[in-house]
Amino acid sequence: MKRISIFFLALSLVCKPLLKADEGMWLPMLLGEQVYADMVKKGLKVSKEQLYSMNQACIKDAIIIFGGGCTGEIVSKEGLIFTNHHCGYAAIAAASSVSHNYLRDGFWARNKQEEISSPGVNAQFLVKISDVTDKVNEKIKGMSAQELSAKLPGILTEMANKEVEGTNYEGRVASMFKANQFLFFAYERYKDVRLVGAPPESIGKFGGDTDNWEWPRHTCDFSVFRVYTNKEGKSAEYSVDNIPLKPKYYLPVSIKGVKDGDFAMIYGYPGGTNRYETSFGVKLKTDIDNPSLVGLRDVRLKFMFEEMKKDDQVKLQLASPYAQIANYWKFFDGETKQLLKFKTFEEKQTNEATFLTWAKGKSEYENLFNDYQKIYEAWRPYTKQRTYLNEGIFGSPILAFASQLLKLEAALIKKDAAKDEIAKTLEAINKARAAFVKAENVASDKNILGAVVQMFYNDVDAAQHPKGFYEWVKSKFGDVKTAKSYSALSDYVFSNNFILDSVKWKSFIANPDTASLHKDAAFIVAAAFNNNFNNNYLKYFTEFSAQNFYLGKTYLKGILEMNKAKKMYPDANFTMRVSYGNVKSYKPRDAVNYSYICTLNGVLDKYKPGDYEFDLPPKLLELAKNKDFGQYKDATVNDIVVGYITTNDITGGNSGSPVINGKGELIGLAFDGNYEALSHKIAFDKDLNRTICVDVRYVLWIIDKLGGATNIIAELDLK
Ligand code: ARG
Repeated sequence: MKRISIFFLALSLVCKPLLKADEGMWLPMLLGEQVYADMVKKGLKVSKEQLYSMNQACIKDAIIIFGGGCTGEIVSKEGLIFTNHHCGYAAIAAASSVSHNYLRDGFWARNKQEEISSPGVNAQFLVKISDVTDKVNEKIKGMSAQELSAKLPGILTEMANKEVEGTNYEGRVASMFKANQFLFFAYERYKDVRLVGAPPESIGKFGGDTDNWEWPRHTCDFSVFRVYTNKEGKSAEYSVDNIPLKPKYYLPVSIKGVKDGDFAMIYGYPGGTNRYETSFGVKLKTDIDNPSLVGLRDVRLKFMFEEMKKDDQVKLQLASPYAQIANYWKFFDGETKQLLKFKTFEEKQTNEATFLTWAKGKSEYENLFNDYQKIYEAWRPYTKQRTYLNEGIFGSPILAFASQLLKLEAALIKKDAAKDEIAKTLEAINKARAAFVKAENVASDKNILGAVVQMFYNDVDAAQHPKGFYEWVKSKFGDVKTAKSYSALSDYVFSNNFILDSVKWKSFIANPDTASLHKDAAFIVAAAFNNNFNNNYLKYFTEFSAQNFYLGKTYLKGILEMNKAKKMYPDANFTMRVSYGNVKSYKPRDAVNYSYICTLNGVLDKYKPGDYEFDLPPKLLELAKNKDFGQYKDATVNDIVVGYITTNDITGGNSGSPVINGKGELIGLAFDGNYEALSHKIAFDKDLNRTICVDVRYVLWIIDKLGGATNIIAELDLK
């Protein structure tokens, strides 16, 4: 007996398959027995009802949409939220000033009175879901591609609004499997959210853009907020009388730490993937779309950074937009590299060939890829035009704002325009202008404007330039091939516009007329490019998008039919998902092994005094030197474990998501993906894909020892 069991044990060790990354962003409400059983096999200990239930408080009740595009989790019975530092970033920057620089120095509320209201940040809880596929299908029956694209968004909005009529919920209908299934979600939105704590940026964004999307990673990417309600416990606008939310459920926090192979589950709101993108789509992306975007962002970032370095006020002003542009600048650059490295184009072609073999004789599917080819061929010549407009021309904030004035122009020109239509447009424009002026940094914008107009000239097919525009530049500012002419153009725009001049703006708003618009230099430039696109190329884009959407719907319908027996997950679309996997090391390239954890010692290794990205506050250095680790020390490494990696399948939107152990306890916060698998939106790599998480013990150590915010620690349910 014994010998046999030892033999089997040995055999099972030898035959144990390499732990692979775990593809799948599952809808927790539709997990099914098969997926749940697999979770249990991997190490999950809690029941299906503890994961998700509509009738009893469960983990899903602790998961929120934080702000516009992140995830957060409730961690105390008084509505305390943990999310990423980069998710709270804009709110922290907004709460900061040069004299109270919380972004730079960190912030810790010692009591509830010190918490800072964060207007615009809100928390949404999922309260209800139902399948409305039949209802939607009834409404879209027989629609052409163009009709479907034009009408579906309106149909879904109308239906969602109807579902929540008479409640204080917000409804959204999400399209799953490229419009082959429709699910209705109701959310309750809480608008009074306050900043409770944040580490100094040097810790919360340690490694900056150099380390972004990379492992090993030593960033303590967390911030702490709290949700408030009115006295009745209902969602309400900010008021001093509001009280902390009493949540249905909150996550306990484990400080036991992780081991290689441990179960890990991540709940949250992944924003978007396109795992069934076609080979045609991949090719357009790697050939044109991504490189165009990256090149244009390079320039914008360079000019913004130049000004941010010079002045603390500007640094605060541009910090958040800069981080946002930089984040996906690096992402798209990495995505291109990985798509090419993984030969994703060829892999998609293989998948498409398999599909076609299955589709033989099925008239609905047989010609799918011929149709795809046609629409991509038709759109390809113009795709640069679109990117150079949106990421280039409108990468200049003043041109982006000026383009909004086109709406006003249209309203003014319209013969039968009603007075209140104009008044409404004016009100919106006036609000947008206030936001623009607050965010505007003239010095960087001046450089950006000249550069992007020149890049458009150099990189976009001459036949597609706005008619007469570059001739005008030549006649007014000189040779269109030299940068000097474009900086002259830029100077001209900045000294001949009424947008930035409050007095002139006020008088324009009081008495708007098209003649003033047509004399405004910012408007002239923005209109030239915008109208060029709208009048000549938008039609190709609209047609391409409609067809692409329609063909995608058909393709997915076929894929679902072809894989009837297989449990499939829909692409991410910012609806609640759960992904599961394990803590796991990996091999990024030949001869290199990456450990599953990184430590405080590694933070010190990277430390560069005075550096923009790798500096550290003296207090952290002192705590580290004294090995003042308290209960947060990892016994195995005799140090603070800073971060770890897991095999989970996540994407942007999951930022701030809780990493949860088999017992349902919080063990960290997911905050990034690794560089070697940046193709993950389109193709998941089962060997290399990793999620980068900050260890909750590092978070707590910073709160407790660096921030001295023992009040926060005391609120948690530590295990
Ligand atoms: N890559 C992270 C994400 O998309 C954001 C990290 C922010 N940090 C930065 N250096 N930009 O969730």
